[in-house]
Amino acid sequence: MTIHTVTIQPSGTVIHCRSDQTIAEAAEEQGVAIAIGCDNGVCEICRGEYLDGEFDFRNSLGEQRLKQDNQLLCCVAQPRTDAEIFMSDVHAPHHKPEMAMACQISAVEPLKGNVYRVTLLTPAGQPADFWPGQYLMLTVPAEQGEQQLPYSIASAPGALTGEDARRIELHIAAGSETSDRVMAFLKQSPTVRVTLPFGDCRVHPQFLADHAEPLIMIAAGTGFSQIKSLVEGILAMEPEREMHIYWSNRGQDGFYLADLPISWAQQYANLHYHPIIEQHSDGWHGRAGWIYQVIHEDFTDLSNVRMFACGSPNMVYGTLDQLEPLGLSINMMHSDVFAYAPRPDKA
Ligand SMILES: Cc1cc2nc3c(=O)[nH]c(=O)nc-3n(C[C@H](O)[C@H](O)[C@H](O)COP(=O)(O)OP(=O)(O)OC[C@H]3O[C@@H](n4cnc5c(N)ncnc54)[C@H](O)[C@@H]3O)c2cc1C
Ligand code: FES
Repeated sequence: MTIHTVTIQPSGTVIHCRSDQTIAEAAEEQGVAIAIGCDNGVCEICRGEYLDGEFDFRNSLGEQRLKQDNQLLCCVAQPRTDAEIFMSDVHAPHHKPEMAMACQISAVEPLKGNVYRVTLLTPAGQPADFWPGQYLMLTVPAEQGEQQLPYSIASAPGALTGEDARRIELHIAAGSETSDRVMAFLKQSPTVRVTLPFGDCRVHPQFLADHAEPLIMIAAGTGFSQIKSLVEGILAMEPEREMHIYWSNRGQDGFYLADLPISWAQQYANLHYHPIIEQHSDGWHGRAGWIYQVIHEDFTDLSNVRMFACGSPNMVYGTLDQLEPLGLSINMMHSDVFAYAPRPDKA
């Protein structure tokens, strides 16, 4: 199933629209409030100004309106490419406004392998306001000038957990030219500029109230960062929710906080943890293989679960493809990958 991104300006609200959906249908599914009246291209209450993209229409009224007045009727428009429209006062549900600030770098600690835990403190009186699962942009020196790089926030917001609301935890994997430069900067600088929050692969109380399904969380490598934030947030909001965590790494060194998910599973009977490495090696007593293979061993029907997937586009799309025969659908899957690496067509 092809998914296109529709960006609604000026808020920048993003809707992921399947090829069989109109913009209005996708917006409703994702909790974005667009006014709907006739739902048939007549009343025009759902109109926005066309900015970019290609569309098919469920009836000829939509096509006429676009050609004549550059207006897009969301109830009949089906995007055929990524698209952009202008509609004032439309925001993603539970939207948190973007904030830019200089944070104190309070600790940089090596964990295991090449992964560091970086702890930031927002300025006094300015708590970090985000939902579990969101990410931030760090402004760091580049070869020429500066660049902004995305990092998952590994902690849950203090407003939910009762912990320090100024604290932000990151897990950063060093080892490439860019990430080594980031780490060198973070180790010597007292502060770093951040912008947050970003990403719609996140949870909030209304999300948990609307979606009662068991949750499957899959992470590869430092994708565990996002899972940690999600799990800590969910445990604070709904500690009895059924959760299955699959954390996969190439080798044993990748489990840079190996004891943490084990301690969650010991503490919560409804939380199940499965560490996985790609190939069995000496001293490994856990499971081995691809994430989807291990999930295949554990589940026969995935039509009534919700999945959060944190890792590379290959991992996310590969897992989805392999688990579709068990009933998993993209509508029940959440990942930042769908926004930053949309797949034009499934091979
Ligand atoms: C939305 C988003 C969140 C990211 N969060 C992190 C993070 O928490 N920690 C981190 O080290 N890098 C993260 N990255 C990658 C990071 O922004 C830089 O790409 C990287 O630090 C630069 O080094 P590189 O050239 O080796 O990047 P890459 O080769 O692109 O990535 C290097 C490492 O980043 C990890 N990574 C990539 N995407 C994510 C992700 N969504 N969540 C967690 N890890 C990811 C990969 O597993 C890999 O270990 C994230 C990227 C995106 C798009
Ligand atoms: S809702 Fe009436 S035209 Fe779209």
